[in-house]
Amino acid sequence: MEKTWKQHYNQFNSKNIPPAATLVKALTLFSNEKFVENNKQAIDLGCGNGVDSLEILKQGWDILVIDQEKDAIEQLENRISPDLITSFKKLCCTFEELNVLPKAFLVNASFSLPFCKPESFENFWNLILNSLLPSGVFAGHFFGIEDSWNNNPNMTFHSKNDIEFLFSDFKVEAFKEVNKVGKTISGKEKHWHVFHVVARKKTT
Ligand SMILES: C[S@@+](CC[C@H](N)C(=O)[O-])C[C@H]1O[C@@H](n2cnc3c(N)ncnc32)[C@H](O)[C@@H]1O
Repeated sequence: MEKTWKQHYNQFNSKNIPPAATLVKALTLFSNEKFVENNKQAIDLGCGNGVDSLEILKQGWDILVIDQEKDAIEQLENRISPDLITSFKKLCCTFEELNVLPKAFLVNASFSLPFCKPESFENFWNLILNSLLPSGVFAGHFFGIEDSWNNNPNMTFHSKNDIEFLFSDFKVEAFKEVNKVGKTISGKEKHWHVFHVVARKKTT
């Protein structure tokens, strides 16, 4: 894992990383849908310094960002253009502390849910399920059980069956499992086992 989140954000800034493909796919799904036009409410969980959040704002959504790191949220806030700032809300807290999330048509969680403590994950996932409106979309990532960080007791890892169970009440719109050696953003080698998921909550 990166030594500190601050280093992670600096690497992210210097490399000009684009928004996550999962988020891009989710936004595309909404592009022709009238029912969200006047109700574009999104949540970005573990927003970091906000590459995804900025894209969500640019596409006309109101957003609530949540992250435990105050500095990251500040960096993000400073990059929002003045005409979009009224669409921005922030909450600096841990996932484990939350007991409710507002209703939303889009919940984005890029590379952040694996950092929720295992003993809190079920509760947090239920908050996400209750937050998503029918036809709402989840976009994000989960770490698989073969990931090389899997001995970290503060992180949550899932099998493919677990993921299928989490999304029982969803139509899966995009799914990719990556299970291979690769590099972290700071260039360190590690084994990545990551599920990339975009899924739409069923209406019944
Ligand atoms: C790998 S970064 C991803 C940042 C951003 N989503 C992106 O893709 O650029 C994970 C983010 O989750 C946040 N985070 C990690 N554990 C958290 C927790 N338990 N509660 C709230 N935020 C957390 C970190 O502060 C960090 O900003």
